[in-house]
Amino acid sequence: MESLLAALRAVAEQTRLRLLVLCAHGELTVSELTQILGQSQPRVSRHLKLLCEAGLLDRFREGSWVFYRLSQSGPAAPFARQLVAACGVSDPTLALDLQRLNAIKRQRADVASAYFRENAEQWHRIRSLYIDERDVEAALVDIIAAADPRDLLDIGTGTGRVLEILAPRVERALGIDQSREMLSVARVNLERAGLENGSVRLGDMYQLALPDASFDAVVIHQVLHYADRPGAALAEAGRVLRPGGILVVVDFAPHALEFLRDEQAHRRLGFADAEVAEWCRAAGLAPAPARHLPGDPLTVVIWTAKRDAASSYFTPEVRRASPAALVEGELH
Ligand SMILES: C[S@@+](CC[C@H](N)C(=O)[O-])C[C@H]1O[C@@H](n2cnc3c(N)ncnc32)[C@H](O)[C@@H]1O
Repeated sequence: MESLLAALRAVAEQTRLRLLVLCAHGELTVSELTQILGQSQPRVSRHLKLLCEAGLLDRFREGSWVFYRLSQSGPAAPFARQLVAACGVSDPTLALDLQRLNAIKRQRADVASAYFRENAEQWHRIRSLYIDERDVEAALVDIIAAADPRDLLDIGTGTGRVLEILAPRVERALGIDQSREMLSVARVNLERAGLENGSVRLGDMYQLALPDASFDAVVIHQVLHYADRPGAALAEAGRVLRPGGILVVVDFAPHALEFLRDEQAHRRLGFADAEVAEWCRAAGLAPAPARHLPGDPLTVVIWTAKRDAASSYFTPEVRRASPAALVEGELH
């Protein structure tokens, strides 16, 4: 009752209702919201604070930027969705707000595609070195369909491609990447695909700002070869897996294309099955046989590993075993 009253008080004001509707249509920064509403930043921030305190909006930080979106969970989240639905879009003020929001989204898309254009040639060159990406994606979809997770974390999501293909199969999909530019492209791609259950956050794969045992599936697709501590990255991925959860790592088998180091900043020239399996075991996961997708000259490998359904997510034995096992094989 008290939280409902607080929520009712928070939205009983025109600007705050407008903010609620806007944040239901995307993740927006204060400066974007200020631009749309034509009001001063301190004023908009004050309204946003009240909406967050009432549990109607979520606030999250990405480096120096702060984003707001309609509350996804918590007691006031269903009420927030009902309010937005009740507002509709026919009101002239709301319709104009949404028009301005679309203009901002178009600007974002232009910036993102400029970045993508600059890098597309490099990515295309790498993709030509191995089998058709669609075959890898089909294998990934099969694995996730068989595991049937409720939620999924994509580490090093880049342009959000893995989220695009897997989010339709889960209730919630989150992508993490350390590059703000990549995340801008990913946001545009998710919006374009209409994937409201998919979102992305700035983050470091070695230190995920996520609770222990919080996902049923974790995917690391073409990221590990950039890692200077791949075992530590897998341990961190394992930490956020629930009992019974699955880790899927996609990368290259050992190869000798040195130019990938100089031109593409690859740190590791592929991985042997045994070393990935060892890192998985050190992270408390049970590795399954790897699947090899041979290409010319690069072979893509899909490694999977599961957290025992009966285990507590991280046994003391695993913690004790980790450091030595994690360091082994990483200092190449
Ligand atoms: C080749 S892209 C792969 C993107 C995506 N997984 C895919 O396959 O389409 C590698 C991504 O890993 C991200 N990355 C590299 N190191 C990272 C780290 N320490 N934490 C988070 N992301 C990282 C990069 O920013 C980049 O977006």
